[in-house]
Amino acid sequence: MSITRREFLAWSAALTGASLLDTPAFAKTEAAGPRLLTAGSFLRQFDPLSSQRTRVWGYDDSFPGPLLRAKRGERMTVLLQNDLQNVTTLHWHGMRVPNEMDGVPHVTQEPVGPGMRFEYSFIARDSGTFWYHPHQHSFEQVARGMYGPVIVDEDKPIAVDRDVVWMLSDLKLDARGQQVEDFGRVRDMANEGRIGNQIVVNGAIAGTAKLEVRAGERLRLRLINAATARIFKLQIADHTPTVIAYDGQAVEPHPLPQGGLMLGPGMRVDLVLDCLGKPGTAAAITDQGRGALITLGQIVYRDQAPLRSGALGAPLRLTPNDLPEPDLSKATDHYIVFQGGMRGTPVIGRIDNRTVKIQEIMEKHGLAWTMNFTAEHEHALVHEPMLQLRVGEHVVLRMLNETDYAHPMHLHGHFFKVVAVDGKKPARSEWRDTVLMQPRQTIDVAFVADNPGEWMFHCHILEHAAGGMMGTIAVD
Ligand code: C2O
Ligand code: CU
Repeated sequence: MSITRREFLAWSAALTGASLLDTPAFAKTEAAGPRLLTAGSFLRQFDPLSSQRTRVWGYDDSFPGPLLRAKRGERMTVLLQNDLQNVTTLHWHGMRVPNEMDGVPHVTQEPVGPGMRFEYSFIARDSGTFWYHPHQHSFEQVARGMYGPVIVDEDKPIAVDRDVVWMLSDLKLDARGQQVEDFGRVRDMANEGRIGNQIVVNGAIAGTAKLEVRAGERLRLRLINAATARIFKLQIADHTPTVIAYDGQAVEPHPLPQGGLMLGPGMRVDLVLDCLGKPGTAAAITDQGRGALITLGQIVYRDQAPLRSGALGAPLRLTPNDLPEPDLSKATDHYIVFQGGMRGTPVIGRIDNRTVKIQEIMEKHGLAWTMNFTAEHEHALVHEPMLQLRVGEHVVLRMLNETDYAHPMHLHGHFFKVVAVDGKKPARSEWRDTVLMQPRQTIDVAFVADNPGEWMFHCHILEHAAGGMMGTIAVD
């Protein structure tokens, strides 16, 4: 039994703050031409008890932006209309699109000016949970609210009663409820990034989000971390969710890790949640990513007879996408050493052909990190590829995090397999487009460079990317 479109919409209307899900599936709009997506600035009321309205930036006057949904193999055509006064682009995080559709300003396209349009069109090659956001000044534009979810349905989706998206992010609001305009400060770049003071779940203030369920239901819950810097550590009280996908890609189903699942910026997890609580009860979905326990939302059981007596006995395993398997025996090795940041051992790095202290790089150049002992200005980062690969080359990237900070490292245009963490083979074989490197950790990832073009490789703490943790990998 799988959820019908109508059930999906009916439920979505019931979720606080979720204008998110009430969009038609992609195919329905495609017949009528490209799906228009309008970037703009608008007012949004976050606290139902206050008259304050916050100016946010986003798409189609919706926060987060509308859900774009397609079937695997279907063409998605989105016409971006820029009604902002700033230039922007759209990047399809995790989607293996042709390079010219990747939305990276000055690398894959010229930025879209105020009043201008750009058509993005590509085949949804992989099923899974993805998202879209600008790649232009993303540390500001994403922080202001520019993001939305993308779902690409499997040919044969697993049986669930409902499919739910929770887009997690945060906002930094002042006493008047307006966004603090302190984007891109070096002290955030060189630390944990710009952390908001208000977590939002599908645009609803954390704690107010409610997921109404009927006892016995099976939900597929897709969590997307769209925050610029906040790392979530997620738990669901009194339930045993099963992880079925990371970053949209199928994984061997396994229980949500005890103590919580770390979800860094850019990362996604798909869970199957069997709602086995009693009618009339509630359970909290919580975050403990920054120490304090924060309630993101509640699973609220309707006072209604259970839908079934136990968990639905249907298979949990997703059909995997067709990703090229890297062969480690013939892979070429590449190393990237990350250093810098405000905390930890002071380091020396090269910039403009001079070797200086990292403090000088921060103060004089507004950068905070080095890769392979070099800090690069943005124009250089975008014009000199960090790595040159041949189409079809098998690659191992060994990332050495010599900083005291965690970094969610993201590669465009490809998925990679995490093959070693601190030199040890991980318990499960996992595909990712973003991997969270803990402080002082070493992570080896492997992939086949099969998508031609110049691809960004960067930290998804967007202030870190702006502070130098960004480069490109050329495949030709
Ligand atoms: Cu989610 Cu380079 O981006
Ligand atoms: Cu980082």
